[in-house]
Amino acid sequence: MLEISGLRKSFDGFVATSDVSLSVARGEIAAVIGPNGAGKSTLFNLITGHIRPDVGTVHLEGRDITGAAPHAICRMGMGRSFQRANIFPKLSVFENVQAALIAHRRAATDLWSASRDIFRAETHQLLASLGLGPQAEVTGGTLSYGNQKQLELGIALAGEPKILLLDEPTAGMSSVETAETIGLLQRIASERELTLLFTEHDMDVVFAIAHKIAVLHQGRIIAVGRPDEVRADPEVRRVYLGEQHA
Ligand SMILES: Nc1ncnc2c1ncn2[C@@H]1O[C@H](COP(=O)(O)OP(=O)(O)OP(=O)(O)O)[C@@H](O)[C@H]1O
Ligand SMILES: [Mg+2]
Repeated sequence: MLEISGLRKSFDGFVATSDVSLSVARGEIAAVIGPNGAGKSTLFNLITGHIRPDVGTVHLEGRDITGAAPHAICRMGMGRSFQRANIFPKLSVFENVQAALIAHRRAATDLWSASRDIFRAETHQLLASLGLGPQAEVTGGTLSYGNQKQLELGIALAGEPKILLLDEPTAGMSSVETAETIGLLQRIASERELTLLFTEHDMDVVFAIAHKIAVLHQGRIIAVGRPDEVRADPEVRRVYLGEQHA
């Protein structure tokens, strides 16, 4: 589904990503972990076209998407969420997802004169599957942070992605919201046959759902493999995991 090869990016001489290669198979749930500043968000931005790599390539389903614009990459089936929830804070929960459906399907030439009823059933269906049904009429910006992240997921799903990149999907969530989100991600990935690539600081989340884990340290991948392999890797334990996951 996704093939990253030799990605490198520096900012004014500071190397944020160096020789990063990674492949993610269709239907796989893959995690990128690493300490603060390891280069996780930069890597995601390189994959989704928000930053152009200095060197290296990104292929999506065999197509070279290196350097393509984010909206073009999105249209090819790659959705994403951001480290800080990215929603329309003044629109209702319903309108956020409805607008995303309209944008994706190009159903209306003028978004703002669109009928209240366009994609009504689908919007409610998507909100229900995210557990946001009861909040449909709530203003997005007034939701709890956890619910805003769930709404952002709904906006991404409205684009009918084949692969979804989630930058810290449980950041800022309570432990209850985190547990809900893990269940939600697993269910949505299996129902929609989605491929997931996510970053996460919460190791319980990572080890609960990832099939494959890549460990970034100072912009380089120092280990990649199944959770049990990564957990046992001495280099990983040294730089990142510590002994609490012994
Ligand atoms: N636009 C930029 N200009 C300059 N330096 C940048 C830029 N973006 C990122 N960096 C630097 O690159 C390094 C990697 O940052 P990045 O945000 O990718 O890390 P991260 O692994 O996502 O960290 P966190 O866990 O805190 O989210 C950091 O040292 C950061 O300061
Ligand atoms: Mg980050």
